[in-house]
Amino acid sequence: MQMTQPIVLSYIQAEPLLKAKQQGITFVEISPDLGLTKIIVPLTHEGIAFPNGEHLDWRSIEKISKSEVNCFILEDNTIRPIQVFSEYTNRVCSLMPTKGAPSMLIAGFVMHRIKDVDPMQDTLRKIAAISPIVGRVLDTATGLGYTAIEAAKTADEVVTIELDPGAQQIARLNPWSQALFHTPKIRQIMGDAYEVVQTFEDGNFSRIIHDPPTFSLAGELYSGVFYQQLFRVLKRGGRLYHYIGDPNSKASGGVTKGALKRLKEAGFTRVVRKPEAYGVVAYK
Ligand SMILES: C[S@@+](CC[C@H](N)C(=O)[O-])C[C@H]1O[C@@H](n2cnc3c(N)ncnc32)[C@H](O)[C@@H]1O
Repeated sequence: MQMTQPIVLSYIQAEPLLKAKQQGITFVEISPDLGLTKIIVPLTHEGIAFPNGEHLDWRSIEKISKSEVNCFILEDNTIRPIQVFSEYTNRVCSLMPTKGAPSMLIAGFVMHRIKDVDPMQDTLRKIAAISPIVGRVLDTATGLGYTAIEAAKTADEVVTIELDPGAQQIARLNPWSQALFHTPKIRQIMGDAYEVVQTFEDGNFSRIIHDPPTFSLAGELYSGVFYQQLFRVLKRGGRLYHYIGDPNSKASGGVTKGALKRLKEAGFTRVVRKPEAYGVVAYK
């Protein structure tokens, strides 16, 4: 961990601290960045002290341990949940811990899979559905940037679009999203993908990752008009991955059927269900 970055903790880190205190242990290993790296810190009567001078008291550790839906940032020896009310969308966005990479909650909806697979495995499945990732990539919905970061490992360039400044703020504080802000190959655009995509030239992208929020939050991103735009900006021979949701759930099953139909109507020659990636792949 770079010590210029703030310390971010969740119940996953807090619970072992409380156990160690009970057992009278004086040094513990802890991750200051939600599991990415580990350091050893001394346990004292007051709490724990981090190498960057930040101090975390036992009351705060207990508070963190009790929340399974929030991650906390430690600044000036004080914790606060990583959560913002987005005035732009009137939605609350927050960073939600898992045993692996955190997810984001927007208006109470989780933005990644967290049951059976964690957000990083979820990301790898999305990427695998349209591998190899080559050329210019369009990522229609940045979120925490996991798909953009993963795609940038092999792509020439990744253009990624985020509507909500609140979501962007959460990504900035997420240790797992830092490459989004430091990878030169990733170009971030703040705006509505529905409008921004209209401004791109025909055949501009070799791959498109379309990972929108659930249908009820962003119906226009599942519309025939939007699919026509995605078709237009995709290169001939290109591939589109479209996240839809658990194909076995009643709601997502219905959305998948409609999406398959509209994608074909938009011009995609072949549209294939990818149940392991909770979505579909469309070929041009
Ligand atoms: C499921 S998340 C994307 C997750 C992302 N692929 C990742 O790897 O972390 C959906 C994101 O789309 C954003 N969003 C919602 N409506 C949008 C729109 N019209 N245009 C662009 N982004 C939008 C949400 O704010 C949210 O951050």
